[in-house]
Amino acid sequence: MSKFKTKHLLGLKDISKNEITEILKLASKYKYLKSKKVNLQDEALAFLFFENSTRTRISFELAAKKLGISTINFDSTSSSISKGESLVDTMQVLESLGVTVAVVRHKKNCFTEELSKMSNVSIINAGEGSNEHPSQGLLDLFTLQEYFPNMNGVRIGFVGDIEHSRVARSDIYGLQKYGVKIFATGPKNLLPKDLESMGVKVVNSLDELINKVDVIIALRIQYERMDKKYYPTKDKYFKEFGITNERLEKQKRKILIMHPGPINRELEISSEVADSSNSLILQQVSNGIPVRMGIISWIVSNRN
Ligand code: CP
Repeated sequence: MSKFKTKHLLGLKDISKNEITEILKLASKYKYLKSKKVNLQDEALAFLFFENSTRTRISFELAAKKLGISTINFDSTSSSISKGESLVDTMQVLESLGVTVAVVRHKKNCFTEELSKMSNVSIINAGEGSNEHPSQGLLDLFTLQEYFPNMNGVRIGFVGDIEHSRVARSDIYGLQKYGVKIFATGPKNLLPKDLESMGVKVVNSLDELINKVDVIIALRIQYERMDKKYYPTKDKYFKEFGITNERLEKQKRKILIMHPGPINRELEISSEVADSSNSLILQQVSNGIPVRMGIISWIVSNRN
């Protein structure tokens, strides 16, 4: 663990396994010891979302409310940023108003790191560009540990648009700290060039991936971040990389399916699989609340 406790959560690359374990233990306490009273009413949490969200935004809000924390929504389009106020001034205004924690989503890589230097407000990265989405990475680890408590020998495979996926990066950084074997496949132009150097074994097809792993994490094709010509047609993608019962049934073993959402049915995954007992997709969503309670309370305890 680092000598100085961090008061931000910017990514999983630069925090230790011990720190991740601390957050996941808090999450477990919030999930399973529901009667435990928590009250952090002196804290105030602001949402600065410059990109859309359903899961992350709502689960952070519910997590904060369960911890007794007031929340405010900062909408840049109706804020004084639209009148020319700088981000530094905005952050200092928020701090003067008593905001202690900001949950931030932005399209630009390293935006949250820049923001963390502008005031004493603690910053939680709620997804930025193609860099990291640490709270999703932590809830994915938490969900996996419900099936594989020590992660011993578990093999995880990613399929899809890894190039644009901040979730994949946070998942990979987190999983590697537990020594998990990681595989990946997808359209060649959607696989980052540094994937093998990140310790991920790239395989040639979805069938090969299914043959090797215990859990598949499917990723959304992020058309909004790519040139329209990037990948030919949805039909071709589904045929090559869509997860279907037909493909899974070739294995005798049960293979668990995860997806950070939002899912595109009949593109990344068939409805049959998404709604099957193999799918942990909604379990991931509901684990978002205790994990984000764990993140907020960890940050607050590091501040105090
Ligand atoms: N997984 C995820 O970040 O979903 P949202 O975009 O709905 O927050």
